[in-house]
Amino acid sequence: MKKHHSPLDQVLEGDCLEQLSLLDECSVDVVFADPPYNLQLRGDLWRPNLTLVDAVDDEWDRFADFAAYDRFTEEWLRGVRRVMKDNASIWVSGTYHNIFRVGSVMQQLGFWILNTICWHKPNAMPNFRGKRLKNDAEFVIWASKAEGSRYTFHHHLMKRYNDGKQMGSVWSIPLCGGAERLRDAEGKKLHPTQKPEALLERIILASSNVGDVVFDPFMGTGTTAAVARKQHRHWLGIERDPIYAQAARQRIDAVIPVGEDQLDVPTAIPPRVPFRKLLERGLLQAGQSLYLVPTGQQAIILADGSLQHGDLIGSIHGLAAQLKGAPSCNGWMNWQIEDTASGDRVVLDALRKQVT
Ligand SMILES: C[S@@+](CC[C@H](N)C(=O)[O-])C[C@H]1O[C@@H](n2cnc3c(N)ncnc32)[C@H](O)[C@@H]1O
Repeated sequence: MKKHHSPLDQVLEGDCLEQLSLLDECSVDVVFADPPYNLQLRGDLWRPNLTLVDAVDDEWDRFADFAAYDRFTEEWLRGVRRVMKDNASIWVSGTYHNIFRVGSVMQQLGFWILNTICWHKPNAMPNFRGKRLKNDAEFVIWASKAEGSRYTFHHHLMKRYNDGKQMGSVWSIPLCGGAERLRDAEGKKLHPTQKPEALLERIILASSNVGDVVFDPFMGTGTTAAVARKQHRHWLGIERDPIYAQAARQRIDAVIPVGEDQLDVPTAIPPRVPFRKLLERGLLQAGQSLYLVPTGQQAIILADGSLQHGDLIGSIHGLAAQLKGAPSCNGWMNWQIEDTASGDRVVLDALRKQVT
């Protein structure tokens, strides 16, 4: 079969093991991989209101057993490592179902783990049966190709995502929804595991430079490439399913890269907005309740824009941190407001966007 000779800015359709073998070695700068999770779902999952949960039960996620999954993991990771430049780094996302197996294989192959990001999903679905904790975290292993390699990391840029403080490895980012979520003609989610662009933006800006090649061997709807293109990086991806591959191409084609003056500026960070401004704009009223994620603890909004819970009074960030016993907490992501009409709770961040 003909070699691809390091194509750029393309969705390669086909099996990633085969497609990887056609790429030049040492040709990509950073990798984001969101491989099958091997969820091993048994039977349908229903909500208490008898609607069916749209879980990941697709054919691409099925493996005969753990051994088959481990073999597949080793093969694709070996293939990806070959195409990584010596100073490239790789981010691999997964759930508790697969991430420990993936991490073990990565270490066996010589990757050097730099961090494990805990991606906290403030709007995750509850555990309807109440038999386990809510599964509201996914993990992203970040590793260099080998110990001692000179991988790219933009420490100062990352601080800007965290109010000027050093970025930690717990990232609270809502699941992909709204206009960002690709849907089919019937309005159903096109892909069960479309990643939020905010997650990819952080990853790409943290670990690559303008003009670098960002590679994704399990492209799905093309989130990695869409963000790479927006941020003036080259991109390359593989996807086996022709429907997803086509949707990814359309999505990526529609991306308008940020202006030159906005390069390396974290666009996923909303401009600073004082919480009080939401009151001034009439989006919230003094006396209204907010609910803390995930406990549902209630706080009352005071006229000066602070919150009160019992005897405790503080800012949206300070009070949330106090109630969680955490050193700091992003109140925009951790307080919810209840929609009076539908009863749905949405994070405050959704209101902040209306003010900016
Ligand atoms: C977890 S999803 C990735 C979702 C993606 N990150 C997004 O934001 O849309 C994994 C994808 O890998 C694809 N896939 C699974 N096995 C594959 C293989 N052997 N070769 C290529 N693609 C594969 C599936 O079709 C699926 O779209």
